[in-house]
Amino acid sequence: MSILPTKNEEYGTKGYWCERTSRESNDADFDWFKSYSELAPTIQELIPDRTSRIIMLGCGNSKLSEEMWEDGYKNVINVDYSSVIVEKMRQRHEIQRPNMEWHEMDVRDLRFGDEMFDVAIDKGTMDAMMTSEGDVWDPPQKIIDDCNKEVDEALRVLRKGKGVFLYLTFGQPHFRRRFLTRPGTTLEVRELGEAFHYYLYIVRK
Ligand SMILES: C[S@@+](CC[C@H](N)C(=O)[O-])C[C@H]1O[C@@H](n2cnc3c(N)ncnc32)[C@H](O)[C@@H]1O
Repeated sequence: MSILPTKNEEYGTKGYWCERTSRESNDADFDWFKSYSELAPTIQELIPDRTSRIIMLGCGNSKLSEEMWEDGYKNVINVDYSSVIVEKMRQRHEIQRPNMEWHEMDVRDLRFGDEMFDVAIDKGTMDAMMTSEGDVWDPPQKIIDDCNKEVDEALRVLRKGKGVFLYLTFGQPHFRRRFLTRPGTTLEVRELGEAFHYYLYIVRK
């Protein structure tokens, strides 16, 4: 069973994610918000080309990359800043999915060149960076800077005219839109779910 943080803001620390994953069994997995089976129709619509080069930002031990791979998306590159997560995921997949890449990397500082990807996906990662004490209506400058850095980096590595950044969150537009608008890009927001709504932000470059 996953350890829960004593304070919500621990979700925003690398130490929490390493510790949580160290304590889990090697084959433990957890998908935040929604699983691939629930997202598949939307993903298939937004990523019609199965050969798209996709970067998974803050992959965690989610099954999203694996299940997308099973669905034909073989070109997925995963990054997470937790070395424990990256090592476990690499070991788990190296036999069956030898071409799937796992990199210990911070989404605020991607070590990839410009315009190398067609799609960037964030499911819950920016949310982890947004957990802090303080006023959600008026977040601390560090949170604003961290979120903007992630989005700047995601847009930098996406191809112009073709790239799409998909961000799935529980965060309502009032709290998220400010991080996701840039000159030369468009933003679409979709609501997913019936009782509890998640939001899919689609930034096209
Ligand atoms: C809420 S979990 C989401 C995991 C997965 N995307 C999913 O959908 O289940 C957040 C993940 O983002 C990672 N993370 C948080 N901040 C990060 C950062 N700045 N750079 C890279 N990974 C980060 C954490 O280590 C954790 O694995």
